[in-house]
Amino acid sequence: MIWYGGDYNPEQWPEEVWDEDVRLMQQGGITLVSLGIFSWAKLEPREGEYEFGWLDRIIEKLHAGGIRVDLATATASPPPWLSHRYPQVLPVTVDGVRLQVGSRQQYCPSSPVFRRLAARLVRRLAERYSHHPALELWHVGNEYGCHVSHCYCSVSAGAFRRWLRAKYTTVDELNASWGTAFWSQQYQSFDEVFPPSASPTFRNPGQLLDFDRFSSDELLECYRNEVRILRAATPDIPITTNFMGFFDRAADYWKWAKEVDVVSDDAYPDPSDPDSASSAAMTRDLMRSLRGGQPWLLMEQAPSAVNWRPINAAKRPGQMRALSYQAVARGADGILFFQWRQSVVGSEKFHSGMVPHAGTNSRVWREVEQLGAELSALGDLASTRVDAGVAIVLDWDSWWSLKQGALPAHLSYLEAIHSWYRELWARTVTVDFVPSTGDLSGYSLVIVPSLFAASGDALANLATYAESGGNLIVTYQSGITDDRAHITAGGYLGGLQATLGVWIEEFAPFAGPAGEPAPSGVLLGLPSGPADATVWAEYIHAPDAEVIATFGTGALNGWPAITRRAGRDGAAWYVGTQLSGSGLDDLLDRVLAEAGVVGVLATPVDGVEAVRRDGRLFLINHSDAPVVVAGVALEARGVHIGERSVAGGGAA
Ligand code: GLA
Repeated sequence: MIWYGGDYNPEQWPEEVWDEDVRLMQQGGITLVSLGIFSWAKLEPREGEYEFGWLDRIIEKLHAGGIRVDLATATASPPPWLSHRYPQVLPVTVDGVRLQVGSRQQYCPSSPVFRRLAARLVRRLAERYSHHPALELWHVGNEYGCHVSHCYCSVSAGAFRRWLRAKYTTVDELNASWGTAFWSQQYQSFDEVFPPSASPTFRNPGQLLDFDRFSSDELLECYRNEVRILRAATPDIPITTNFMGFFDRAADYWKWAKEVDVVSDDAYPDPSDPDSASSAAMTRDLMRSLRGGQPWLLMEQAPSAVNWRPINAAKRPGQMRALSYQAVARGADGILFFQWRQSVVGSEKFHSGMVPHAGTNSRVWREVEQLGAELSALGDLASTRVDAGVAIVLDWDSWWSLKQGALPAHLSYLEAIHSWYRELWARTVTVDFVPSTGDLSGYSLVIVPSLFAASGDALANLATYAESGGNLIVTYQSGITDDRAHITAGGYLGGLQATLGVWIEEFAPFAGPAGEPAPSGVLLGLPSGPADATVWAEYIHAPDAEVIATFGTGALNGWPAITRRAGRDGAAWYVGTQLSGSGLDDLLDRVLAEAGVVGVLATPVDGVEAVRRDGRLFLINHSDAPVVVAGVALEARGVHIGERSVAGGGAA
C-alpha cells in the first residue's frame, strides 16, 4: 500500500475535535499519521512527571478508525522547564548568542543533559506504546539540524575536543592535518582548541571541515541515543527520522541513511519557482538513492502554501497532486503532509493544512480527498523500484568546503549539480545519486560536478570506473583538495589526471567589477556553434586527451575547455566551465549516445516529466497548459500512469 497522511498535532485542539479528525481522516483516505512530534511539554509537563492519558486516548481513537501511527519520540522541542532548570542545554550560535526558549529545537546537540532527558522520555514512550497495535513506525526527533546544526557552547567545545582526540590521537597530528603552521595557529594541547566561532577573519579550513563532520556526528549521536532504546523495545518496528532533501548544513545523509530503516523526506518546493519540478524530482531521486534504491516516504509536503518564505505562493490546482505523483513515480511508498489540520495558533497558523481554515468546503480538502482515493488504488506499486542508468556524485565534504570563504570564487555546489540534473530530467533520463566512494559499476554514465574535497579513495574509485569501461564526466573544481583540505598540488585532480589526460595550471573564474554581474565567455568547437561558458574558466593542459571545445575569448582564447580521453569502452571527459544551453545540449547529445543511455520518452516535451517505476510509465505535466505527449493527452498539471510494460525502462 502507498501510505497517505500527515503530521497530526491533536494537542493543539480540544478533544471534541479529535472525533471529527478521525472521521475526516477516514473520508480522506488517510492511513498513517505522525503523532506527537512537538509534544514533549504536554507529555512531561514537569521533570519526571508524565501525562500519557491524552496520547492514549487519541491513539485509541486512531486505532479504532483504522489509522496507523508513526509515533514520534517527541524530543524535537524541549519544554521550557528543561532550559529553565538546565540553562546549559541552550545552544550558542557562531556569534556567541545563546538561543532562548519560545521557538523550537533549542538544544545543544552535544548536551549530556538533553540526551539524558530525551532518552528518559523515549524509554517511557517505548514502554507504553511498543506493543500498541496501531504502531507502524517510529519517528525520531524532527529534521535534525534544521535550526541548530552547529553549537559553539563550552559543552560543544569539550565534545569537539574529544572527537578530535579520537580522530588524531596527538595534537601534532591535528596540527599537521589543519596546517596550523599557517598564521601561527599551532596548538600545544587539545585544550587550546575551540569550535570555529566568529573570528577576526577567515577561519582554518581544516577546522571548519572537521567541525561540520563533528556536528553531523553529534546530531547523529542524538538520533542514535533514542534509536538504541527503540530497537531494544521493538526490534520489528521500523525507525525513521525526516531528512530535508539537499540539506547543506551538518548532516551527511550518506552516513545518516545507514542508520534509518526507511528514508523519509520533507520537501517544500516553491510553487512559484519555474524550476521547482526538476529540483523536486532531484530531491526525490536523492532520497531513493540514499539507501541504494529502497522505497522511501515523503514525510512532509505542504498541501498548498507554506508560511516561511517572504511571499508564500499557493499551489495551483493540481500542483500538489502532480508533485505527489512525482514522488511516487520516483520511488516513494508514502505521501504525507505537514500538517493535518491547519493551526489557528502559533507561528505556523498561515501554513496550509490538509483541513484548511476554510474547512472541507475548499479546494485544498477536495484535492486531499481525491489524492487519497487515487493512491489507495496504486497499492501494488509499493516496494517496487526505479532503474537509472546515470549517476551523479554527491559529496557533503565538497559541499561544506565550497561554502567556506577564501576560495577562488563563490560557487553554488547545488546549482552545479542541478545544472546537469535539470537537463537530464528534461530529456526524461532517470538519475541516481551516489557517494564518491560508492559502487558505480551499474551505471553507463557517471557525472561528477565539482568534487572539490576528494579523498584518494574517491579519486581511485572514479578512475577505476572509467578504466573499466565507464563514461565519466568530471567538472571544474574537482580534486582540488584532499579530505584534509590540503591542496592536491601539481595540477590538481590527483590520481584522476591520468584518467582524464589533463592537468590544471591556473584558475580564471569569470569576474566583473564588484557589484556587477560576472561576464561570461564563449566556447568554440561544439557542433551547434559558439556556446556560453559561465561562472568558471581555467587554464587546462590536455597532454593525453582530445580537445572537444576551447575557450574563445580573452586571455583564455584557444585554451581547452572540454576534453575527452577515450577509454577501453567508454571515455573520461573533463569540463572546465559551467555549461548551459547549446553547450550542455551538444555535450549530452554525444555522451548519452556514446554511453547508450536513452530517455523514457523518445521525444520529450517541455514541462512534462516522464519516469518509469516497476516498468510503469508516469507522465506528469507540470506546465499550465494541456499537452499531448507520446500519444497521451494531458491537462495542465495532469498525470497519466501507463500499464506495466514487461521490458521496463526504454524509450516510449
Ligand atoms: C518542517 C517541520 C514541520 C513544519 C514544516 C513547515 O518541515 O518539520 O514541523 O515546521 O517545516 O513547512
